[in-house]
Amino acid sequence: MAGSPRRYVVVGAGGVGVAVAAALQDAGADVVLVARGAVLAAARERGLVYTRPGSRRVLDVPVVPDVAEVPLGPDHVLVLATKTQDVEPTLRRWAWQPGAERVPVVTLQNGLEAERVAARYAEVVVGGTTLVAARHVVPGEVHVANHPAVGQLVLGAAPSAALAPRADEVAAAVADDLRAGGWLTQHVPEIARWKAWKLLHNVTNATELLAGEPHDLDRLRAAVVEEARAALTAAGHAFADPDRERTFDPALAAVDAAGGWRPGQQSTWQSFARGSGSEVDFLTGEVVLAGRLHGVPTPVNAALQRVLGASALAGEPPATRHLDEVLALLPTGALR
Ligand SMILES: NC(=O)c1ccc[n+]([C@@H]2O[C@H](COP(=O)([O-])OP(=O)(O)OC[C@H]3O[C@@H](n4cnc5c(N)ncnc54)[C@H](OP(=O)(O)O)[C@@H]3O)[C@@H](O)[C@H]2O)c1
Repeated sequence: MAGSPRRYVVVGAGGVGVAVAAALQDAGADVVLVARGAVLAAARERGLVYTRPGSRRVLDVPVVPDVAEVPLGPDHVLVLATKTQDVEPTLRRWAWQPGAERVPVVTLQNGLEAERVAARYAEVVVGGTTLVAARHVVPGEVHVANHPAVGQLVLGAAPSAALAPRADEVAAAVADDLRAGGWLTQHVPEIARWKAWKLLHNVTNATELLAGEPHDLDRLRAAVVEEARAALTAAGHAFADPDRERTFDPALAAVDAAGGWRPGQQSTWQSFARGSGSEVDFLTGEVVLAGRLHGVPTPVNAALQRVLGASALAGEPPATRHLDEVLALLPTGALR
């Protein structure tokens, strides 16, 4: 089988970036990874270690320190596998170099902001909604617990196939490459609906960072999701219904807990554990923003964002703050 003709620059060698880069390489594409800080140091010292249930490999992919270091040609695709807060700084560094104007940008972030930011810098933007149980707590070591498929990735033109036909073609091609590399993929016409659906889950990421009784944290989770649904609906978002719309069987990417996957420690938790920044302002904070712009109160999300913003600012690890600190900012009985 001939390999993919596309040449991928994947920025961010974390949980998603490593799993995507490895798959694209398996699909026969030319891949370069961009890494920084402790991950770059680890890649140079011992290579990027990627484990899956029953397998371990050291990625055989060039790793460079700067996104502006890769000379760009017509077949390149830029894949952003950073957290949302790093999308804009990365694109500002990259977008005005020669050749970048021809390069499609793929945004794999949770939340709703990445595609909007990317459209300021790139003509062709493809959004992706990623469901993968990736764990990255030691810099340069990524474990993906899904099996046999790597994970689920839904891709679509941003803002939509109807408004961006070239991005729609790129979305289909990238979905083909990732499918060839072992992901379950789907190419959809309205990616924003999938991103909004996923955000209803990702607003619970921040709750994993709090200490507290499981029952009380469940009540907090229910409240943040209820607020998110109301605020995002008022902002005009519709939600995909994966049970009806998915074209693949998600059971083919089941989570194998044996290899070190820990429920309740998703990517936001992992960032706090590594002391490497917070995406909360683009997940919980997206709900707060939508509420403020559209007149829907979101006190529980706002309180959660405030407590975790202070925690991130102080560089604290997960579970430093207690749920009581969030409740103290809310009227008595705010959680049912
Ligand atoms: N992990 C999962 O299971 C999962 C599942 C679904 C969706 N997602 C979403 O996917 C996105 C990526 O998450 P992740 O968990 O893969 O993040 P991650 O493990 O933190 O990896 C992101 C990496 O990108 C690096 N980075 C940021 N800007 C860079 C730049 N300009 N050049 C080079 N490296 C750069 C970061 O470095 P620093 O550490 O120095 O910041 C970090 O190593 C997030 O939006 C997340 O919400 C994650």
